[in-house]
Order: sequence, then structure tokens, then C-alpha cells
Amino acid sequence: TAKDLTPMMAGNDGFFYFLPKFVQHAGEECRDSLTRFFLSDGDVLDLCPSWTSHYPSGWRPSPPRRCVALGLNPLELLANPSKTEWRVQDLNKDPQLPYADAAFDLVTNSLS
Ligand SMILES: C[S@@+](CC[C@H](N)C(=O)[O-])C[C@H]1O[C@@H](n2cnc3c(N)ncnc32)[C@H](O)[C@@H]1O
Repeated sequence: TAKDLTPMMAGNDGFFYFLPKFVQHAGEECRDSLTRFFLSDGDVLDLCPSWTSHYPSGWRPSPPRRCVALGLNPLELLANPSKTEWRVQDLNKDPQLPYADAAFDLVTNSLS
């Protein structure tokens, strides 16, 4: 229903995420499960990551492969060790992704 699709905290996400939150958003078992799931050799678009993406420890694509982290807080995105590039974009205000069709092999979005 429309109520189900309405955020409990409707408002400005950019304001909520203005300050970085260097926390874990899920327990260890859940995070380990995500890590086992996220294995890729291709180009990756990571939507709404923070300082962590739950990718395997130390994972970073080998050039020219890329991993784009797109979220709201620049400090969280800068601290993300898997990204090769990052972009701040409020997807509520601007849901259009600035990438060509089929630019990525894998799109991830965890806990967001
Ligand atoms: C609960 S955290 C989850 C972070 C990470 N994906 C994880 O699994 O730990 C939500 C993330 O989504 C991003 N986010 C929230 N609202 C957003 C929006 N409207 N547009 C883009 N990113 C957003 C925030 O910057 C934040 O890092």
C-alpha cells in the first residue's frame, strides 16, 4: 500500500546523513552472509554504501575494472576501501543514474 512505501522518517536524507556514521548496520552473521554473496570480477556499482560494502576483505577491482560507490556522505564514501571512484547523489531527489546502460556487471545495494 502507499503507507507501506512511505518512509517511517520521511524527510531530507541529505540532512540525516550529513554527519558520517562509521557504524555497522547489521550483525556479524548477516554481514558474513553478504560477503559470501558478493564475488565479482566485473564492473560494480555500489548503491548507498557507507565506509563498508561487505565485499570480501581487501577486494578491489583490478584496473581497468571499476567499483563506483554512490551515496550521500563523502567521508563515508572516501573511507570505503573497495571503491575506485565515488559520487554523492541523493537518489530521492535525483534517481537518474549518470551511467550508460549496461555499464556495470553487478549492482549492489545492501541495508539501504
Ligand atoms: C543504513 S546505511 C547502509 C550502508 C551500507 N550499504 C551497509 O550495508 O552498511 C544507508 C546508506 O544509504 C545512503 N543513503 C540514504 N539515503 C540515500 C539517498 N536518498 N540517496 C543516496 N544514498 C542514500 C546513506 O549515505 C547511507 O550510507
